[in-house]
Parts: sequence; C-alpha cells; structure tokens
Amino acid sequence: MKHRKMMFMTVILVAAMLPAANIVQAKYESNEKMGIPKDVDSVHSTYLPVVMDKDFQTTMEEDKKMKPQIMERQKTLLERRYDLSDNPSDVMMSAERKPVQKGVRVKLPDGMTWKKLSEMSPEQIREQGLFPEGFLPLPHVKHETGGQVIPPDQIKEINNLEQRNLERFDVTFDLPNHLLPEFPPPIFLTTRPDLGDVSQGKLLSIRNYYEIMHGIVTPVQMEGLRLLLTPFPQQQFNQTDDRKVEKASLGITCFDCHSNGHTNAAFHLNPDTRPHVARLRLDTVSLRGVFNQQIHGSKRSLRSIEDFTEFEQRSAYFDGDHVTAAKKGVHLPDRASQVVMMAQMQNILDFPPTPKLTVFGRLDPKKATEVERKGEEIFFGKGRCAECHPAPFYLDDKMHNLQVERFYKPHMSNQKWITGVGPIKTFTLRGIKDSPPYMHDGRLLTLEDTVEFFNIVTELKLTKEEKEALTAFMLCL
Ligand code: HEC
Ligand code: HEC
Repeated sequence: MKHRKMMFMTVILVAAMLPAANIVQAKYESNEKMGIPKDVDSVHSTYLPVVMDKDFQTTMEEDKKMKPQIMERQKTLLERRYDLSDNPSDVMMSAERKPVQKGVRVKLPDGMTWKKLSEMSPEQIREQGLFPEGFLPLPHVKHETGGQVIPPDQIKEINNLEQRNLERFDVTFDLPNHLLPEFPPPIFLTTRPDLGDVSQGKLLSIRNYYEIMHGIVTPVQMEGLRLLLTPFPQQQFNQTDDRKVEKASLGITCFDCHSNGHTNAAFHLNPDTRPHVARLRLDTVSLRGVFNQQIHGSKRSLRSIEDFTEFEQRSAYFDGDHVTAAKKGVHLPDRASQVVMMAQMQNILDFPPTPKLTVFGRLDPKKATEVERKGEEIFFGKGRCAECHPAPFYLDDKMHNLQVERFYKPHMSNQKWITGVGPIKTFTLRGIKDSPPYMHDGRLLTLEDTVEFFNIVTELKLTKEEKEALTAFMLCL
C-alpha cells in the first residue's frame, strides 16, 4: 500500500514538472531559431496577445510609473550617440519656417577622428568595436512595446483643431524639436505649380481641409483628402483595453504622421520583421513625389500607391498582425471607392521647387556656386552616390543591402536586437533638406551625418572639402 502511494506521488510529480520543463526548453530553442540571445524575452515572436492579462487601469498605472525610467533610458542612449545641440545653418527649409541644422552629430569613440576611421577596414572597425554608435540601427523609444509615437507639435495642433488627443501615457517623442522637419510643412501640388505653397501656413485637419482646398482640387481629390484626414482605429489609438491613450480614441489619420502630405518625423516599428526585438524603427517618409516611385515601403516593396494605402491600415496600423486588428476595429478601405481617391490625392503632392535644377535634375552651372558644382561632381563621380540615387529623381526604385553589419557585432541595445538590417529601399534625395532625421529609422540627424556614413560604409576616403561639397550639393536638391 505504502509502495503504491509513493509510486503514485512520483507519477504526479513528474507529470507536474514535465510541461514546465518543456516550456522553458521550447523557449530557448526558439530563441536560437529566431537568432536572438538565450536570455532575451522572446514573447511576441509572431503574434501579439489578444486577451490582456491585466485590466486597462492597471496597465495604464504601471506604464505611467515606468515612463520616467523609459524616457531616461532613451535620453542616455541618444546623448551617447549624438550631439543633440541646436546648431542652425543659414539655409532654410522650403517654406522658410525652420533652419536646416548643420554639422556632424554622430559622436566618435574617444580619441578617434573621421579621417582615421575612414582609413580602417570594416574588419578592424568591427573587431576593435570602433563603429560610431549613431551609425547603428536606432531603437524605438520603448522598443518592448513599440507603436506609433507622434511629435509634440502635431499633438498640440490636433488637440487645438479637433480635440483629439495623440499623447500616449507610456512614452513621449524622443528627439528635440529643432532636429525635426518644419511644422506645419508647406504643400506643393503638381496640378497647380503656379500657386506655390497652398497650406496657408496651416496644418490640414478634418476641420479645415475643405475650406483650404476648395477651388484648388477636384471632387475626387477632395474626397481622398477627407479620408486621409479621418481617424481610424490603430494599435495604440483605439477604444479597447489594449490602447496607450488615456481616453478611448477614434484613432489615427494618415496625415497625423504624413503632416500636410509630408512628414513630421513620427515613428513606429516596421510591421515586416519578427521576432519583436529585431523589428526596425521607422521614421515617417514624405509623400512628396511619391507619384514617381515604383516601390513603396523600406522593406515591403509594394508596387503601387493604391496597395500601400490599402495595406497601411491592414499592416502598419496593426504591426502586421491582422489578429489584434480585428479586435480593435480595423478599417479596411474599399479599393474601388476609397483607396483610389486617397491615392489620387497623394499622387498630386509635389516636391518643393528647386530653382537651381534643370529639367534633367542637374545643377544649372550658371545658378550654382563653385562648392555646389564640386559637390555634384563628387556625387556623380568619386562618391558613387548616383549609382543608387540617379538624376532626375535621385532614386533607382531598388532595394540595396548596404551590409552595415560588416562594421559591428550583433548585440542588444535598449531592448532592441541590433543585427544586420538587410535590403532597404533607396529613398529619393529630392527635397531632402526638408525631411530630417535620415535613413529608414531616422538614425542620422543631419545631411553631414549621411555623408560621413556613406564615406565609411561604402569606403570612399573622401577629403574634408569633398564631404563639405557633397552636403552643399544635397541642399540644392
Ligand atoms: C506612424 C505614422 C504613420 C501613419 C499614421 C501613416 N503612415 Fe504612411 N508611412 C509611415 C512610415 C514610417 C512609412 C515608411 C514605411 C517603410 O519604410 O516601410 C510610411 C510610408 C508610406 C507610403 C510609402 C511611401 C514611399 O515612399 O514609398 C505611403 C504611400 C503611405 N505611407 C501612405 C499612408 C496612408 C495612405 C496612410 C493612412 C492610411 C498612412 N500612410 C498612415 C508612417 C505612417
Ligand atoms: C548602394 C546604393 C547606395 C549608394 C552608393 C548610396 N546610397 Fe544613399 N541610400 C541608399 C539606401 C538603400 C538608403 C536607405 C538606407 C537606410 O535607410 O538604411 C539611402 C539613404 C540615403 C540618405 C537618406 C535619405 C532619407 O530620406 O532619409 C541620404 C541623404 C543618402 N542616402 C545620400 C547618399 C550619398 C550622399 C551617397 C554618396 C556618398 C549615397 N547616398 C550613396 C543607397 C545608396
């Protein structure tokens, strides 16, 4: 009898231990499969939770308590990577509402100079850990949660105009205002170049768009614009217990990030990559000149503006997760009656005028300075920039793998797994001075930074004068 009882107990014990052991083992195995370190929390590997394990109030209180710590963590990271100071140049952005910031902002490791660094091989830089941290992929302000984060100017103006609150309770925007695009950005239309900026210095919203655009756009474009300015539920801005705004929200509009059809530098995580820790921060791109682009999204490579418009709400709004989207009330715009109109409106957003460029997109030698002409020569010659950014639109409609991971070892940084990023779409350089920060994740703050980046990454060995000339040329685009 005693013996049988012991056997019974042993069976129970083993049975109780087995599943636990399986779970731990399974998690470690899958971390290996996902290519991330063993001790990294790999929840949200493919799916996000649908049923929350806490009620909304509890989550909000915990998030609010964590917020100062999270913001401090990001501030430390940004200050380690960059010189964030306000150092305006005398060049203004297109509507002359904000100066372009100047100077290289990425910090070098102690004792290093840009010249010395450019003389080292990728292997040496990688082995000695000398790659500037600001050249690495940039983590989201709260990478473990991710989601859309809107800059203060936009939050304030939308609150004024619509009394809709875009402020999250768990995070705030992380970059200083002087490093962002001018606000509100000007609007140039391909259909009415003679009018110049049609924004009247205002931010388009559902309250004022009709008045501002009446008489200038067609009924179809007007209806497209209405939809681009209408809030629809999104992962963090919605009405469920899994939201990051205090009051239940109607949602986000396309132009909450693409302000006036340009960008306000709002960011989120890309919907395309898993597991969650490996996802990329994405800086909002401008929609100016999108009519001339054949592929859309830094990784998605969607082939039409209509596809992107339709899928932005399916994928980007909900982290590429159609399961949680259903719970939060995803709006799926109708292709025939809505998407095409939204696309038609986006397709008339033009680049800002460039008085120094000819119809071939090249500098008019009579109008350019000597430094600008020198910069153009480097761009199309020694710098090899034009091989991926050819005139007249300074893009090649291709994705390229810059193989930046030749210069660093994979590691964790603020809950982001820093590893090879793979192929990314070449962005256009037309109107580039208007859309800092730069690169898909906004990791570079000035055009000078992008020149140093390509000088190292494509191993160009440019002189100081050549680098300055390149920046001067890009300011003409
Ligand atoms: C977080 C704010 C945000 C919101 C809201 C948003 N977008 Fe975007 N949009 C982005 C980002 C970031 C990218 C770049 C995506 C990438 O690199 O993969 C982008 C890219 C695009 C592109 C591709 C442009 C190109 O250069 O290829 C289009 C078109 C676009 N968005 C349209 C829309 C439309 C239409 C909506 C509303 C349904 C919308 N966006 C809402 C941030 C946003
Ligand atoms: C092999 C192709 C290739 C070459 C060569 C190249 N680029 Fe790029 N460029 C890209 C790609 C791809 C991106 C986007 C990379 C990313 O976001 O990670 C980019 C991004 C940029 C950006 C940021 C654009 C934005 O909207 O944020 C600037 C500025 C730029 N390149 C300038 C240059 C200059 C200057 C040179 C020459 C010194 C150069 N590029 C050479 C492919 C190239």
